[in-house]
Amino acid sequence: MFNALVVEKDEDSGKTSAAVKQIGLDDLPEAEVTVAVEYSTVNYKDGLCIGPGGGLVRKYPHVPGIDFAGTVEESSDARYTPGDKVVLTGWRVGEAHWGGYSQKARVKADWLVPLPEGLSTRQAMAVGTAGFTAMLAVMALEDHGLVPGHGPVLVTGAAGGVGSVATAILAHLGHEVAAVTGRPETEEYLRGLGATKIVAREEINETVKRPLEAETWTGCVDAVGGAMLARVLGQMKYGASVSAVGLAGGAALPATVVPFLLRGVNLLGIDSVMQPYANRLRAWERVAKDLPMDKLEAMVHSATLGDLPGLGRDILKGQVKGRVVVDVNA
Ligand SMILES: NC(=O)c1ccc[n+]([C@@H]2O[C@H](COP(=O)([O-])OP(=O)(O)OC[C@H]3O[C@@H](n4cnc5c(N)ncnc54)[C@H](OP(=O)(O)O)[C@@H]3O)[C@@H](O)[C@H]2O)c1
Repeated sequence: MFNALVVEKDEDSGKTSAAVKQIGLDDLPEAEVTVAVEYSTVNYKDGLCIGPGGGLVRKYPHVPGIDFAGTVEESSDARYTPGDKVVLTGWRVGEAHWGGYSQKARVKADWLVPLPEGLSTRQAMAVGTAGFTAMLAVMALEDHGLVPGHGPVLVTGAAGGVGSVATAILAHLGHEVAAVTGRPETEEYLRGLGATKIVAREEINETVKRPLEAETWTGCVDAVGGAMLARVLGQMKYGASVSAVGLAGGAALPATVVPFLLRGVNLLGIDSVMQPYANRLRAWERVAKDLPMDKLEAMVHSATLGDLPGLGRDILKGQVKGRVVVDVNA
């Protein structure tokens, strides 16, 4: 028997509750690879799945945790053998399939990647889906012409998980980074990650009538969406790109097409969940190379399985700073 965070649903009230319980190997779903999980993490989606599910979880009881890193214990797939270190992000694990908030997980071999060289399992989870997605967002900007030295790159939701990692990577690559935050108390933290300018959320969160404003940003990693993304589109420099990653501020996009037509602005969609294997490897290799590990450590808090119900509520309220690493064996 081993520990897992199990979410149960009361059929009468429809309410869910999450608690650490003992489960066995026979409870795990059928799949090719059994992993002894070492670390997991907390993303916005985890907040939804620990709580009422947000439409992501279809079946209860459920074990959330969209990311994990650990060691292969058993494998019926030739690509993995016991003792291999592996990482999992995405593929709807932790939502439709049981996830990483458990001392053991069983998943498809296709969903795993070998632990990138130069990263420990703990560091891989300090990165997690949030950091992996930040890297995909930066790579997409680069693929569309972003190079250092042409002006500031904007990061929205900067003190959150995606934003913190994007800030650290972009600064390390030599970009000037402007960080948007609604939490002025995180200024020192964001400057420590390499931001050179702090933009107050309210400065950029309100809708304006003009579809175009001064050309300000040479790129943007946007974790917020909504009115903020609409506003940012009108502030992009000619030909610049925005990687749209998240919807922490809303899913609606109250924008006009004018920035696309008159400034050749590109809006790039970023999805981490179904990302093909080759690009996953490329992104993890870039993380190991371009994310300074001291900056990563500066954004990490440690937690246990028992802390998760509270952390799930916090992240939905936008109150988690940086990244959380969950030691499932603590
Ligand atoms: N596309 C993908 O594959 C993918 C992958 C990972 C995450 N995501 C999405 O990306 C977003 C960020 O994820 P995360 O893990 O970084 O979450 P997070 O740690 O909670 O960060 C989100 C940040 O957005 C800001 N924010 C929150 N509410 C806001 C509001 N109402 N208006 C403006 N800003 C607000 C806050 O930053 P400040 O306090 O600094 O303002 C918050 O820390 C989520 O929507 C998540 O679902 C998408």
